[in-house]
Amino acid sequence: MKNLLNISDLNQNDFDNIFQFADDLDNQTEKILTNKNIGLIFEKNSTRTRLSFQVGINQLDGNYIDVRFEELNLNRFESYEDTFEVMSCYLDYLVFRTTDHKKLDLANKFFKKPIINALSDLSHPCQAISDLYTLKENFGSINNLNIVWMGDMNNVLFSLLEAISFTNNTKVDVFTDEAIYSLNKDNFNLNKNINFHFNINKEIIAKANCIMTDVFTSMNDKEDKENLLSKFQVNEDIMSLTDKKSVFMHCLPAKIGSEVSEDVIKGEKSIVLAQARNRLVAQKGILKWLSI
Ligand code: CP
Ligand code: NVA
Repeated sequence: MKNLLNISDLNQNDFDNIFQFADDLDNQTEKILTNKNIGLIFEKNSTRTRLSFQVGINQLDGNYIDVRFEELNLNRFESYEDTFEVMSCYLDYLVFRTTDHKKLDLANKFFKKPIINALSDLSHPCQAISDLYTLKENFGSINNLNIVWMGDMNNVLFSLLEAISFTNNTKVDVFTDEAIYSLNKDNFNLNKNINFHFNINKEIIAKANCIMTDVFTSMNDKEDKENLLSKFQVNEDIMSLTDKKSVFMHCLPAKIGSEVSEDVIKGEKSIVLAQARNRLVAQKGILKWLSI
């Protein structure tokens, strides 16, 4: 049975198929999900992920059901086992955003049908797929690129680092705080195309095709990391080091003035709206992959 809890649930063929299906379904409707009921559970806030799944499911002729996490009996005394086994009686697929990846693993243990991770504390596979799709749209290929990630180490970065295995010779240079690195170094697998830096290195940044960032403090974080990470803000000083064709990416929502300056996110190198639009395109690719 197919699931998308982490990028590592995909092999190269799956990944290539999702890209192909996303291409085919861009601006298209197709009756792939007729009579399929898909539960959407969002334990945390969402704008893009929830809406892109809702619209994508509509365009593929399926039904989505918004399951309000806080209203489930799971929040009283019912177990994960009973909750998710019961959900299998009604639903064909589940899209689940949760505070703790362990809850996703539990849901997966008891829900007898496919689950898509709509973001956990450790991973955001739908975002990584969509972001690589946006890079391909922009540069014509996901291979031979230099990606610079600035700031926090979080779910979006961990999935990106996993997804790099589907590219050829694309490198990720991560600029972050050393203490944050120490806390997070076991949350991903290092390989020769991934490097970490704890101080700004202008020569590496100058070679970037893409500068990417995300909020310094994620929904799950208990501590504010603003002070630790402020030196990694993406601003004009950083973007001006890169060449004319480089782009700025951010999964959104952004905290403007924190991880990115307003002139960069609103500037001509920013492709954040293309990224947001491609969430819908990629969700349809993922849903088709899941349903065939
Ligand atoms: N990028 C992303 O997942 O956005 P939402 O939190 O709005 O879904
Ligand atoms: N890292 C962010 C991503 C939001 C889409 C968070 O988890 O809050």
